[in-house]
Amino acid sequence: MGREIKIFDTTLRDGEQSPGCSMNLEEKIEVAKQLERMKVDVIEAGFAIASPGDFTSVKRIAQNVKDCTVASLARALPKDIDRAWEAVKQAVQPRIHIFLATSDLHMQYKLKKTKEQVIDQARAMTQYAKKYCSDVEFSAEDASRSNPEFLYQVIQAVIEAGATVVNIPDTVGYTTPKEFYHLIQGIKDNVRNIEKTEISVHCHDDLGLGVANTLSAIQAGANQVECTINGIGERAGNAALEEIVMNLHTRKDIYHVGCRVDTKQLYPASRLISTITGVPVQPNKAIVGANAFAHESGIHQHGVLENKQTYEIMTPESVGLPQNKMILGKHSGRHAFEDRLKVLGYQLNKEQLDASFEEFKKLADRKKTVTDRDIEALIHQKQIHIPQIYQLERFVINSGNTITSTAAVKIKKGTECMEEVATGDGPIDAAFNALDKLVGFRFQLEDYSIQSVTEGKDALGEVIVKTKKEKKTYTGRGVSTDIVEASVKAYINAINKMLNESEMDEGGE
Ligand code: KIV
Ligand code: ZN
Repeated sequence: MGREIKIFDTTLRDGEQSPGCSMNLEEKIEVAKQLERMKVDVIEAGFAIASPGDFTSVKRIAQNVKDCTVASLARALPKDIDRAWEAVKQAVQPRIHIFLATSDLHMQYKLKKTKEQVIDQARAMTQYAKKYCSDVEFSAEDASRSNPEFLYQVIQAVIEAGATVVNIPDTVGYTTPKEFYHLIQGIKDNVRNIEKTEISVHCHDDLGLGVANTLSAIQAGANQVECTINGIGERAGNAALEEIVMNLHTRKDIYHVGCRVDTKQLYPASRLISTITGVPVQPNKAIVGANAFAHESGIHQHGVLENKQTYEIMTPESVGLPQNKMILGKHSGRHAFEDRLKVLGYQLNKEQLDASFEEFKKLADRKKTVTDRDIEALIHQKQIHIPQIYQLERFVINSGNTITSTAAVKIKKGTECMEEVATGDGPIDAAFNALDKLVGFRFQLEDYSIQSVTEGKDALGEVIVKTKKEKKTYTGRGVSTDIVEASVKAYINAINKMLNESEMDEGGE
């Protein structure tokens, strides 16, 4: 195998910046654990100066992750670099990632700086960061629209100042594979001592070329690639990690490079991100979409039955897609459940396992067969621990097409139970109104979606609500075979997330 390509995951920074993809502290830690399990090389945990919440999550991830470099983003400013270092300094392998724009457009209109000022700032801030941290990455924002000669000068300056990685972002997803190839080749040919640093690329997907541009840069000699799970990120998103990795894996004959990512963790990572953010993966999405390995037409099915390779260039197993090989039911014991979890790649502690098994038993009572997708849905509901400040006790709904819907909802806070009745435009609206009354504030419901986890009339329904309060959005999730119950659980989940976050803000770091 030839060169080793480093995978730099920015799901928790660039990905989290995209609308509707914000995550709370526990969720970010859960994602970081999955990224470590998947063996990415670098986790960009956040932008430490952006908010106290960002700082805390970068710091907690730096303290917890052992097997990956942990980076924080920073503008090329001393106060940003100070904050980034404060957040990552406890990591086993910390990195400060500085960025400064180098295109004429950005320099003139955003930075209002001359070329000389930008070179001086890039050099000085790299030196500043080096005083703290041996591993410093410098990103030339909007590199693909920068004057190449000027870009060479900036890169030269930061290498002299000690940058260990130079990142070439296609910030607005404007470049093409051929143009980007030449840009990377130009940097290799024209920057002195370039071989002493790693060349990284960071491609956005505005024209749908994020992955293609990344792969082209690898062919030109880039050895680190920046990407996100499911391609989430600003605007049209970032290059999708799972697509880059599976391209390198499947077409070794073309790329002749390796990377240390455990491909079996790609699908679990994709599900985790989708579940946490409430942003579904499009069914025809490469590698992790629901249809990525489905063969519908008779001709294809026949071919696959004869020899899988007729229509399958990679196996579903290789990306960790559950095969629904074992179906559990109400007579299945804890052992079978635990075994299935292991096969599906979940490692739960005893407390999580107890809670999940209890949920599994309840589900098995309501549903004839419990599939891998059902188990996944249950685990994701239980896996991320936010304190259950409020818990659902029971609800009663009176609804029909000729009456006003009424909901009586009873919830528990600690040992105290409380109940309220409200009306609404349909059973779900009525239940949400009753919950608003119970907790004493009103959420603005930004989005509500429901989908069935599996086929069949007794399928689990999964509800995602996006609720807003004081400009912040909270994603709540609930699963049940009863869609009103799933909705109520999702709404309570969003309430708990909001209350939990306010408590953390009050408690500080
Ligand atoms: O897209 C971009 O240019 C970035 C940089 C901060 C690396 O996200
Ligand atoms: Zn970006």
